[in-house]
Amino acid sequence: MDVEQTIEGIRSRVADARKAGKTVGLVPTMGALHAGHHALIAAGRRGCDYLVVSIFVNPTQFGPGEDYEAYPRTPEEDLAACERLGTDAVFAPSAEEMYAETPRTTVHVAHLTDTLCGRRRPGHFDGVCTVVAKLLNIVRPDTAWFGQKDYQQSVVARRMVRDLNLPVSIAVCPTVREEDGLAVSSRNAYLTPNQRRQAPALYAALRKAEETIRRDRPPAEDVITAVRDHLRAQAPEGQVDYVQIVDPETLADVETTDRPVVVALAVRLGKARLIDNVKVDGPTGST
Ligand code: PAF
Repeated sequence: MDVEQTIEGIRSRVADARKAGKTVGLVPTMGALHAGHHALIAAGRRGCDYLVVSIFVNPTQFGPGEDYEAYPRTPEEDLAACERLGTDAVFAPSAEEMYAETPRTTVHVAHLTDTLCGRRRPGHFDGVCTVVAKLLNIVRPDTAWFGQKDYQQSVVARRMVRDLNLPVSIAVCPTVREEDGLAVSSRNAYLTPNQRRQAPALYAALRKAEETIRRDRPPAEDVITAVRDHLRAQAPEGQVDYVQIVDPETLADVETTDRPVVVALAVRLGKARLIDNVKVDGPTGST
């Protein structure tokens, strides 16, 4: 496995792969690789000939007071996992390599970023889109893999790629969960044992919401109230950032659930801000 820290280095590896007629894939990550990333890397391994995993804790997507400094960094374990999973090259640049000069250009995807996490984390998606655009330009993959846990991120990335005519397809892989349903996340490491016991309430609330929607198709507001009630009872230390029911493509809030929807939530539990979502088809299976 090649490990490259410079843009020139990874470009030259990818150029060699292209010369050999290989298709190229990218799994962008911020490291601290867990089972969710492993699933993305495994999908990437199956989906292209030359697989690049990028590991970069991107400072521009963290707001003031967020956990940029504290974000878990496990470089040795990450490289070992990439190697084990058959990655061809890891691109692990420094912040100076990625942002050599003070950037004057930002990629902003309008509307889709005004809601859900975007509304609570101003500037977050500008940071994400800009770094993803840079990574796509550096690696020039045919396909890039994202996780459904970051649902808004995957929708925004798809839209950016469409709007900017970037020649890459975005693949989205299902959320990987612990046995008790908690979505796997690097930030789960912040949970105390007591908070960890409460954390499965997020997915349990979403599952109940999904069941209710499939059965009764009630107004969205009723489902949101039920999710909030469940969280209050089962995760009393949790502070709900949002519970929203949105259109899967536009991310606009919906009033009715007799159509495809995504139920999404973010909850602060101690130092961890946890997000999760479920997508529910329309009554006739429409997506
Ligand atoms: O999902 C993440 O880990 C990050 O937002 C990403 C896509 C690697 C961009 O920094």
